[in-house]
Amino acid sequence: MTKQSLGVCYYPEHWPEERWETDAGMMREAGITFVRIGEFAWSRLEPNPGEYDFGWLERAIDTLHEKGLKVVLGTPTATPPKWLVDRMPDMVALDADGRPRGFGSRRHYCFSHVAYALECDRIVTELATRFGKHPGITAWQTDNEYGCHDTVVSYSTAARDAFRIWLKEKYQTISRLNDAWGNVFWSMEYRDFSEIELPNLTVTEANPAHRLDFRRFSSDQVIRFNRRQVEIIREFSPGRDILHNFMGSVTDFDHYRLSQDLDAASWDSYPLGFLERDGDDEAHKLKYMRVGDPDMQAFHHDLYRACGRGRWWVMEQQPGPVNWAPWNPAPLAGAQRLWAYEAFAAGAEVVSYFRWRQAPFAQEQYHEALLLPDGSPNAAYETCRTVSAELAKFDASVGNARADVALVFDYESDWAWQIQPQGADFSYLKLVLAFYRALRKAGLTIDVVPPTADAVRDRKLIILPGLMCPNRKFIDELANTQAMVLAGPRTGAKTQDFRIPADLPPGGFREVIDFDVWRVESLRPGAQVRLKYREAGLFLERWREFLRPGEDATAIIESEDGHPALLASDKRAYLAGWPNEDLLDETVAYCLAQAGIERLVLPDGIRIRDHGPHRFIFNHLEDEQGISAFIGDGEILLGGETIPGAGVAVVERRGR
Ligand code: GAL
Repeated sequence: MTKQSLGVCYYPEHWPEERWETDAGMMREAGITFVRIGEFAWSRLEPNPGEYDFGWLERAIDTLHEKGLKVVLGTPTATPPKWLVDRMPDMVALDADGRPRGFGSRRHYCFSHVAYALECDRIVTELATRFGKHPGITAWQTDNEYGCHDTVVSYSTAARDAFRIWLKEKYQTISRLNDAWGNVFWSMEYRDFSEIELPNLTVTEANPAHRLDFRRFSSDQVIRFNRRQVEIIREFSPGRDILHNFMGSVTDFDHYRLSQDLDAASWDSYPLGFLERDGDDEAHKLKYMRVGDPDMQAFHHDLYRACGRGRWWVMEQQPGPVNWAPWNPAPLAGAQRLWAYEAFAAGAEVVSYFRWRQAPFAQEQYHEALLLPDGSPNAAYETCRTVSAELAKFDASVGNARADVALVFDYESDWAWQIQPQGADFSYLKLVLAFYRALRKAGLTIDVVPPTADAVRDRKLIILPGLMCPNRKFIDELANTQAMVLAGPRTGAKTQDFRIPADLPPGGFREVIDFDVWRVESLRPGAQVRLKYREAGLFLERWREFLRPGEDATAIIESEDGHPALLASDKRAYLAGWPNEDLLDETVAYCLAQAGIERLVLPDGIRIRDHGPHRFIFNHLEDEQGISAFIGDGEILLGGETIPGAGVAVVERRGR
């Protein structure tokens, strides 16, 4: 169990050196412990090829260290400088239309470019040898937000060449690849790996099996790129944690696998930015505009806790309005505090605000910070003071208790359903989030997990929406578990080679619950498959499957036109479509009853997280709410029986 700390992202290179000591003093005063620096500073670290200027960085690290702050040093590889791009113009990624992703912002590199990777080895080695053993450096961050701005997939020559090698390793012979991809369709057969192009610029859609392998390859390239940096840092900077800051809603590479090389995962949490950018319900956006969606952050916290195998941070936390969403409202007073507690409640070791001081120049001028552009404190600075003072009074550490409920999230399924959505609005991430939300509305604490047997062992309820192709070990675990298992639409819908299973979906998954899917349909917005049920208002939308139940399975809910909508067999259930909110709530209620888990019905905007001795209660609405029903006979450590908009309560649960 680690005591929670606050952090901040700092850019000393943006401010006069005379100011650094004042900044460091103010950070201490606000209760900040960790300071991340350096991740975009390549042009200042190496202004000309091979000419290093590390003196300023050393002085910045010294200044922070002397004030007792712990430094997280970023590698600057997300921002290769102009001279480097000019030297090797083909190092930039190409988009699907073959256009270069030009210089002048960031992340303008291709993960497959061999010479760029060597340049990264060089700058990382220089930094790690110079600063690796500095007593002020306690951790490293590799690069910055792999995949942000849609930068995982590149259609460059370097990517094509590396893809051919990757395919050869995977399939060994070209006939195996042709068979696996079904290339006989439309005469797409190849005679040699050297004939294979990338799946872009085709007349109509490229073969989905080709595309899925390209997505797998692209994910592997990110993992390899990161691993090179990790290996160098480990060699020259022993004993320091290595992290990467993942970005919310970025799913283009496998974060579980990349995190295997890290000591802890971290992610960048922008609750209001995400709601404005990613939400699709206008009323919902208005309702949560100043505190953020009640489940979006929590979902990512749970995901990155899984990635980091229990160790994770929020590397960047929204401090005020951001600059990059379609609209950028200010948080309700207290929202920044709520976000910190949400993360700590989920086990975060550090919550680090982005950024220290608002930059009056370049791209992020309207992005607030802990300080105003003039260097005086802004609202989030006060938040840090408040939270650090509160944390000093009680220990909210939650450790790593295993939740009774596991919700499976799988990156490959996300790529598969992006490649073949079949209905324009089928989004795997949104499907998983819908299940997550329904579970949270019932007051549950959830672990988000990868689709592995270990991850779902010893649970009471296991939920897997849309898992493309469960592997054998996972199926065996699910077939034998005592837990309640709920699978959602498209589970087992394809093989690893992106084919419909020879014995029809759900393929091997029918060992868990027995049925065939003989037809699927996707539905335009507004279309509803109405259900026969004691209550009105339940329906399937977007996606529907027509099932033929096996002997032991029975439909507990049927559609009005006579097809199973919720199929069950003992402690197994399958939802044959995309459930509307009421149907999902009803399904969750059924599963909780089967699993013997208590179900709460939380008021709008209230969320709970139970961990060890503590219950955390959050109010995501702007108005105050009474929460005494959820306190029981526990002792209130923070907050009260009524909490204001964006309020937080922490309760010590008796007998725990
Ligand atoms: C993050 C990024 C930061 C900054 C921030 C603004 O995605 O890592 O460098 O741009 O967004 O909100």
